[in-house]
Amino acid sequence: MKELIKITIIDREGVSHVFEIPPDIGISVMELCKANDLPVLATCGGMALCATCHVLVESGTSLPEMQNDEALMLDQLPNMEPNSRLSCQLKINEKTDGLVVRLAEE
Ligand code: FES
Repeated sequence: MKELIKITIIDREGVSHVFEIPPDIGISVMELCKANDLPVLATCGGMALCATCHVLVESGTSLPEMQNDEALMLDQLPNMEPNSRLSCQLKINEKTDGLVVRLAEE
């Protein structure tokens, strides 16, 4: 297993924040944002109910498959893109090494 995996989050000003973290840390991309004071509200706490953790996947690795609740929530967004995901549904693990996401506009 790799020791550290790399996740890049581009904020709404276009600044890239690169994180190198252990793959078995058991958090989502949303939780990584919150822990590092990136502006993600995540008002539902990661239940796929608020869409305030909306991100655009710029460079994907193998991401967890989208579940119905995430798809339904994204469908209601006026700014949904083909690469939209809810970052609370993106669990970080060795498969997400190299992931690059951009915070969607609020
Ligand atoms: S935190 Fe609410 S949908 Fe992701």
